[in-house]
Amino acid sequence: MTFYFYIACRFQHSLLGERTNLFKMVTGMVRTLIAGNWKMNGLKSSLEEAKKTTQMLNDFPDKADCLICPPSTLIVPMKEVASERLHVGAQSCHPEASGAFTGDLSAEILADAGASYVIVGHSERRSEHGERSAYVQEQAHACLRAGVTPIICVGESFAQRERGETKDTVVRILRKSVPTLADSETLVVAYEPRWAIGTGLVPSSDEIAEVHGVIRELLIELYQDRGRGIRILYGGSMKPGNAAEILAIDNVNGGLIGGASLKADDFMAIYAAAVA
Ligand code: 13P
Repeated sequence: MTFYFYIACRFQHSLLGERTNLFKMVTGMVRTLIAGNWKMNGLKSSLEEAKKTTQMLNDFPDKADCLICPPSTLIVPMKEVASERLHVGAQSCHPEASGAFTGDLSAEILADAGASYVIVGHSERRSEHGERSAYVQEQAHACLRAGVTPIICVGESFAQRERGETKDTVVRILRKSVPTLADSETLVVAYEPRWAIGTGLVPSSDEIAEVHGVIRELLIELYQDRGRGIRILYGGSMKPGNAAEILAIDNVNGGLIGGASLKADDFMAIYAAAVA
């Protein structure tokens, strides 16, 4: 049985170039994604942390995906120091493929630089740059056009939480932000309560489970069975000390980590919790 399973995996690997699909199909499991969002932090010297991350990944079983989204200037050199196990991504993109958009980067340009994921709709982009959900949806479509996976972020403000509007807010924003078609390989969603970002505050496990549960229901409503395998990350003050508890929650398929992703030791401590 093991032998035939192995042959089937090899066959599928050569057919689709995707190592984990058959495993997921057979077990119904979703592969965890541990993603670092470096935000506007990172100079050339920071590549040392990426190098260290690459080396440290070798000490862990290859049971979860690992990604760093540095400032765009570091995508190319980070790709050069990263092993196959460390994916490199970007933090935003323009919806158009090319053209007169001074200062912007398209999904195609980011893919060409080596990005395989692009974060879109982060609350800092929504608030600092006025990016609304319709625009985020255009960005997500641009990612699909360019062959990179969008990580679409959603989350409620503190006031919305206080008013008991968390689930409604998340569902409303997500419904408007997601692409028309998607599956587990072409979409990642990140639930990031705005009040939890960079504050050290984290919702209770029950609260996270509830929100991830409604996100899963929405993904199944929108994409039927394909919605079951789409990864839903939690983001907001995730640290080595709380990662194991958060990653064990139903429908939490990984983390989107800001501050604690800047140092390889902290980031890999979170990865360790994901593969334990
Ligand atoms: P922190 O982990 O620093 O709270 O940031 C979370 C975040 O915004 C990731 O996108």
